Amino acid sequence: MFRVNKTIFRKLFFTYLLLIIAVMSVIAFAFSWGYNNYVFTEKQADLRSAAAKTAMLIESYRNEQISSTELNHSLDILSYMTGSRIYAIKLTKESLQNEKLIMDQDYIDGYLFEDLKNILNGQEVTRKKQYSDRMDGYVVFVGEPLHNQTGIEGAILLFAPIDQFSAQITLINLTIWLSALVAVFVSSFLIYSISQKISRPLRVMEEGARKIAAGEQIEDLVVQTGDELDKMAQAFNSMKNKITAAENMRREFIASVSHDLKTPLTTINGFVQGMLDGLVKPEENTKYLKIIKEETQRLIGLTGDILELAKLQSGGINLQRKYFNLKELLEKTLESTGFQCNTKKTLISMDCPENIELYADEERFRQILINILDNAFKFTPENGEIILKASQLEREICLRIKDNGQGIAPDDLPYIFEKFYRGDKSRQESTGGTGLGLNIVKMLVESHGGRIEAQSVLGQGTEFILFFPK
Ligand SMILES: Nc1ncnc2c1ncn2[C@@H]1O[C@H](COP(=O)(O)OP(=O)(O)OP(=O)(O)O)[C@@H](O)[C@H]1O
Ligand SMILES: [Mg+2]
Repeated sequence: MFRVNKTIFRKLFFTYLLLIIAVMSVIAFAFSWGYNNYVFTEKQADLRSAAAKTAMLIESYRNEQISSTELNHSLDILSYMTGSRIYAIKLTKESLQNEKLIMDQDYIDGYLFEDLKNILNGQEVTRKKQYSDRMDGYVVFVGEPLHNQTGIEGAILLFAPIDQFSAQITLINLTIWLSALVAVFVSSFLIYSISQKISRPLRVMEEGARKIAAGEQIEDLVVQTGDELDKMAQAFNSMKNKITAAENMRREFIASVSHDLKTPLTTINGFVQGMLDGLVKPEENTKYLKIIKEETQRLIGLTGDILELAKLQSGGINLQRKYFNLKELLEKTLESTGFQCNTKKTLISMDCPENIELYADEERFRQILINILDNAFKFTPENGEIILKASQLEREICLRIKDNGQGIAPDDLPYIFEKFYRGDKSRQESTGGTGLGLNIVKMLVESHGGRIEAQSVLGQGTEFILFFPK
């Protein structure tokens, strides 16, 4: 089956083209019709005034003011000037009764019979375009009654063959239609380029979308039309960038997770196999079991973090917010985590005014604090110091957690809140986290309507500053 390829370009192009053709045709038709009409009307007016002059000449002849030669001569001149044949005939209604008689006379065409009747009744008769057998062509015809003192004594008939001015009409018509054709031709070029301009960006976007769907990476689309298409391309680009970013994140996430899952599992598997094969001395069992337990705990922590992250990302945080006294909340949290009696002999001190009320979810706040303190302990050597300091600002409550540990390199600082980001040094086994902690912290703080910042000097310590709305 024949199927027309339905493109925007075709639709635009052919619709506009048809429109232009239709409009130009109407205009050309109106012009040529108007011109035709004008020419014939003018001719009729000429003939009418020639008829009046003829009547005047005949009147003069009748009053013997001019001779018959002079009359004939004048009529010849009038006939020549109007390009017509002039007849003045004497005729009565009675003689018209005899149709046969009239028809025999050689100046009578068939149509004239009815016209003559009307003329003898005192009417003027005009015909714009009448075929005349006798003149062997089309004529413009005017017939007027011929009066004498007593009444109508006959008719004045004027016939102007149209072939003398039809050539001119044809030429004008040709000019009009040719101009219309040229206009259509020129505008079709214009329409073509406009249609191209409109449809091209759409094609580019379609192609881009196809490529993205096929998993290809593509450059930003460049559309500079300054209209809705422009905005559409911009929206397309931002959508494309988001998809690409999401895709990259997904890849990274899978790579990181599988790596982080595989490492402890390999360790566990290795030790268990060694024990089964009797390669581990019984007295060393406890030592290896401890390692296995640590690795298992890391796996539990990791899966917990991933689940937490998934929950946070899918918008599934259901905050149970209440007003808490910040000082009490901090004390309670520190107590319950047991951070204060740590093996590294890190000193924790707290400076918090009594009267600060924080509107927060207790469990989530605990999670935030634990993650930050966990990092502070991890990255601070023995006998270090961690200081918690809270203060009340105009619209916010500010909590600073500062350590004097190893600090974060300026190159790493901007990325520490990103998923799976770990500073190089912390990739060592001793501190080996997954890099999810601060990402979770950031999401939790933000879900409370707050924000978090980090400042650090490498080798001197790090400070996390949290702001919660009042
Ligand atoms: N107090 C700190 N001192 C020095 N470096 C820090 C401190 N807190 C965070 N960092 C740096 O930021 C990185 C990201 O921290 P984050 O808590 O997200 O991950 P992690 O602690 O390595 O792993 P996880 O918390 O998932 O077990 C850390 O790997 C570390 O390099
Ligand atoms: Mg951490």
